[in-house]
Amino acid sequence: MESIEKEIKKCKRCELWKTRTNPVVGEGTLSARLLFVGEAPGYYEDLEGRPFVGKAGKVLDELLESAGLQRNEVYIANVLKCRPPDNRNPATDEIRACTSYLDAQLEIIKPEVIATLGNFSLSYIFDKFGLKKDKISKMHGKEFNVSTIPGIKKIIPLYHPAVVTYNPKMKEVLVEDFKALAKYF
Ligand code: URA
Ligand code: SF4
Repeated sequence: MESIEKEIKKCKRCELWKTRTNPVVGEGTLSARLLFVGEAPGYYEDLEGRPFVGKAGKVLDELLESAGLQRNEVYIANVLKCRPPDNRNPATDEIRACTSYLDAQLEIIKPEVIATLGNFSLSYIFDKFGLKKDKISKMHGKEFNVSTIPGIKKIIPLYHPAVVTYNPKMKEVLVEDFKALAKYF
């Protein structure tokens, strides 16, 4: 992971290096059995160089706690390692340029379960494992079995924690999904 970290810190493979303060490699234990994949760093993540430390991060922390999971026993990564300006959506060419880093992280950690947070993460991971996507409203909290990378057994799509900041009712849905997720561990 250290060599990946070094590479990311000097990476100029897409334009986002120009506007980043810090890249966000990811955080957690390399022996994690559960790995979350978010979208991209936001304002505070870019400042601190750590994933999910802003508003969505606060929601994620609450969800982990409600499920009895600790940040230091999982790994948290993102599809993009640098912040898109004004938190705009990741662009296709940026995803193409960046995801070899996420791929490498998955190969190193080989988590039993990958939980996707939000649509960009869902799309990338489902394509990668050859799964067919449906609406998130139908897929959230369900398990999808995979076998193409030894050690990685399940993908579980989740809503992005940021949904709670504009629709507080979604919190309950996420709490239930996180509880179901925690049952695997
Ligand atoms: N949203 C994300 O998708 N990732 C982060 O690291 C922070 C907010
Ligand atoms: Fe490199 Fe990814 Fe940052 Fe683009 S987003 S500069 S590909 S690390």
